[in-house]
Amino acid sequence: MPVAALACALALTGCGAGSGSGSSKAELSVSGSYMPQPVSADMAAGFLTISNKGGTRDELTSVSSDAAGQVTMHSTTGGTMAERSSFAIPAHGRLVFRSGGNHLMFDGLRHEPRQGQTVTVKLTFAESGPLTVEMPVKSATYNPSTGH
Ligand code: CU
Repeated sequence: MPVAALACALALTGCGAGSGSGSSKAELSVSGSYMPQPVSADMAAGFLTISNKGGTRDELTSVSSDAAGQVTMHSTTGGTMAERSSFAIPAHGRLVFRSGGNHLMFDGLRHEPRQGQTVTVKLTFAESGPLTVEMPVKSATYNPSTGH
C-alpha cells in the first residue's frame, strides 16, 4: 500500500470529515454555468464553478464544445488575460470561472448562441472522468449575483 494511502486510512475520521462519504478520490460537480449572449459573431465567453467534494486534487486539462471550433481557458491577473493549459481544483475546494476573473473562451462559433438556448460543453480532467455541461445562454449583461 502506498504511504499516502496508508496515512489516509489511519486518519480516516479526518479524511471523511464533513462529507460523510470518506472517499479520498476527487468528486467533481459543476454549478452556475452560463454563457452571456455574445456580442461578436465568432467569439463568446463562458463561466462556471467546479466543486471538489473529494480529498484529492484534480486538474481541468481541456474544454471542448460542439458549438465552437475551439475552447480555451484563460486567467485574468491584474487586468491581463493569459491562456492556461490547466487549472487546479483543490481537494475540498472549488475552481471558479467568473466575469472579470478566470473564463472560458469559445472561438470559431458554428452558430450564434441566443439567449434561452444551451451550449453543450465537455470538461476533461487529469484524474476524473469527463463531465458534460448544458450551459445556458443568458443575456449579454447577465449578472449571476442578481439573476438578471
Ligand atoms: Cu480570455
